[in-house]
Amino acid sequence: MEQTDVLIIGGGLAGVMTALTIADSKKVTIVTKRSQKEGNSWKAQGGIAAALGDDDSPNRHIEDTRKAGCNKNDSEMVHILAHEGKSRLQKWMNEGLQFDVTEQGTLDLGREGAHSCRRIAHVGGDRTGKEMMRYFIDRLKGRVSFHTHWTVVQLIVEGEKCCGALFLNEKGKLTIVKATHTVLATGGIGGLFTHTSNDTHLCGDGLAVAARAGATLTDLEFIQFHPTLIKGDVSFCGLASEAIRGEGGSLVNQLGEPIMSKGHSLSDLAPRDIVARVMHEQISKGNSLFLDISCIHSFHTKFPQVVQLCELANIDWTKGSIPVLPGPHFHMGGVETDENGRTSLAQLYAVGEVACTGVHGANRLASNSLLESLVFGERTGEAILQASSEQPSHYPSSDESVISSFYKAFWEAPAKREIQKRVDQALGIVRNESALRSFIDWVHHVLPNNFSQTSAFMSKEQVEVAHMLLAAKLVAEAALRNDVSCGAHFREDIEGVIGS
Ligand code: SIN
Repeated sequence: MEQTDVLIIGGGLAGVMTALTIADSKKVTIVTKRSQKEGNSWKAQGGIAAALGDDDSPNRHIEDTRKAGCNKNDSEMVHILAHEGKSRLQKWMNEGLQFDVTEQGTLDLGREGAHSCRRIAHVGGDRTGKEMMRYFIDRLKGRVSFHTHWTVVQLIVEGEKCCGALFLNEKGKLTIVKATHTVLATGGIGGLFTHTSNDTHLCGDGLAVAARAGATLTDLEFIQFHPTLIKGDVSFCGLASEAIRGEGGSLVNQLGEPIMSKGHSLSDLAPRDIVARVMHEQISKGNSLFLDISCIHSFHTKFPQVVQLCELANIDWTKGSIPVLPGPHFHMGGVETDENGRTSLAQLYAVGEVACTGVHGANRLASNSLLESLVFGERTGEAILQASSEQPSHYPSSDESVISSFYKAFWEAPAKREIQKRVDQALGIVRNESALRSFIDWVHHVLPNNFSQTSAFMSKEQVEVAHMLLAAKLVAEAALRNDVSCGAHFREDIEGVIGS
């Protein structure tokens, strides 16, 4: 058993920004499911969006964010993101955070889908996530405790307050971390699907433990599919940044015909939900899809990470095209929070992709996620500092008492691949009632409500599978309830779309 002031579950940018804000005054413990350098923040390519250009303004950024989100966005959150985002990022740039500059020494801003101007700051070409994570993690060194390769099993709730969490540690042993404040920063849910741009271990742990603890979850049906996952011979092998289309790249079929020229006024730079649906239609007709990069000069210096991913998959990008398919990339829904990361459960916070402030609406604007992590990560840290005068939590009297029966008897867990295959079918780009119902029925069948008959102990793999099933079921139920197609949630069995 361990005790800390603030327990942060997840080590991506959002959790790190929360930690940085409080590390001087609080004892902080960060727990990650894999190593410190795994997770989606490290993989982020395009960059971080902020109104830093001369022709730009936070209000213009707000307008683009809302348009991409089909106006389902929470206005206050978007205002905070665009206005504070700019000033908080500038503060870090003044402290030494660097981005790529032009030969003239001005910021080399990139463009991505649904942005009305160049707005994306990047570093190392397409290595923005890695470089930003290195910069911020360096500043945390020696100021917080880290536990890696720990799987969260459940949150500890006593007297209607969250007071820590139970984990399986790197040796698979149950360990409790008691905390005055607990922050969920577990990232997205791409790992629920067979192929994803996400790290595959990100498969719904945060949603599952929050739901089981009674926290409110919202907008779960909105899952963004990124148009250009790189398709290798055998499997997918990572992302080809949307910034490539911002530099003139275009989506074509096997005959070299552009597929987006009639799909939207912004053509290849239309919002992701729209591009993904056009691609889905093309694929249904039997077409293969490619990202034509032949017009981009110095591709290898602008997109070194994409080049590396192609080379690892034996794709000869020098021929001017990369095979691509759309794939799950970002979850707009999540654990409902206010503007300071507070969830509906006292002393539980959520930040980054696992959280849902409502800022992204029905479809996130490209490169708003690193900005979200920075802004709402810092705000959450600030809220925790302000809340420090609150009484410390009451902890459960014995460690055993927090281990719920839910986790004690889950023997015949289905294989991860089986779940992913079924999630692909039910929760893809295009959904319908019958596929959603049959998925939910199947989960009810394999994840019974009562697990207390035996006292068998669950392994990390079984906990992960239980979390996947619960998280996917919650998403499917939300998708079934929502019979209005909007943004990234598209129901083919219902007429009419609220488009972006
Ligand atoms: C990309 O580089 O295309 C991904 C950026 C994002 O998801 O915002």
